Amino acid sequence: MSAKKRIVILISGRGSNMQALAEADIAQAEIVAVISNRADAAGLLWAAQHGLTTEAISHHDYPGREAFDAALIKHIDAYQPDLVVLAGFMRILTPEFCRHYTDRLINIHPSLLPAFTGLHTHQRALDSGCRVAGCTIHFVTAELDCGPIIAQGVVPVLNGDTADTLAQRVLKIEHQLLPKAVADFVAGNLVVEGNRVKNLADAVTDNVACLKN
Ligand code: GRF
Repeated sequence: MSAKKRIVILISGRGSNMQALAEADIAQAEIVAVISNRADAAGLLWAAQHGLTTEAISHHDYPGREAFDAALIKHIDAYQPDLVVLAGFMRILTPEFCRHYTDRLINIHPSLLPAFTGLHTHQRALDSGCRVAGCTIHFVTAELDCGPIIAQGVVPVLNGDTADTLAQRVLKIEHQLLPKAVADFVAGNLVVEGNRVKNLADAVTDNVACLKN
């Protein structure tokens, strides 16, 4: 049996996606550290209480984005991660940081990319009259919220939705989708081909479906 894949999770706040990932207890994965840029992140406390290694590295302690990201790389690499997961890490990352972790850095974004990159995604989906909304797990590239898409989850937009009610509905599928994407990554099922991700597990399913038809 091959060694478990080492995962570092970066958070900035609540950490409910980090929690979903930890609770999924993926057999081939080990969460080796949870790092936050905010010492008061609620998720950091949860992680520590559940026996995970935690670190807080404040961006306020560095003169600029480049210096902070360089320090962050050093801290992360001390854990020798196979995968770095941005789970509500509310920082724009430098191109150097993104390049350093090419094809082993993933993010969860609360919209159906490429629609609504950036912030306030749920209000913008409502303002645009979207009938569906959702979330996207993608590999991170230097361009914000634009890397190859691993998985997407869709929910309906309902009459009377506010940004908050829609966010709650989307968050439920985030919690399902992120552990599945990480499980696919650690199983070696994700192959990046240009801007597309081939999921070898899906290919097997497709083949079976083809045979059945
Ligand atoms: C989630 O909606 C995620 O998609 C976005 O930030 C939020 C983080 O929530 N990137 P949590 O900290 O995981 O609860």
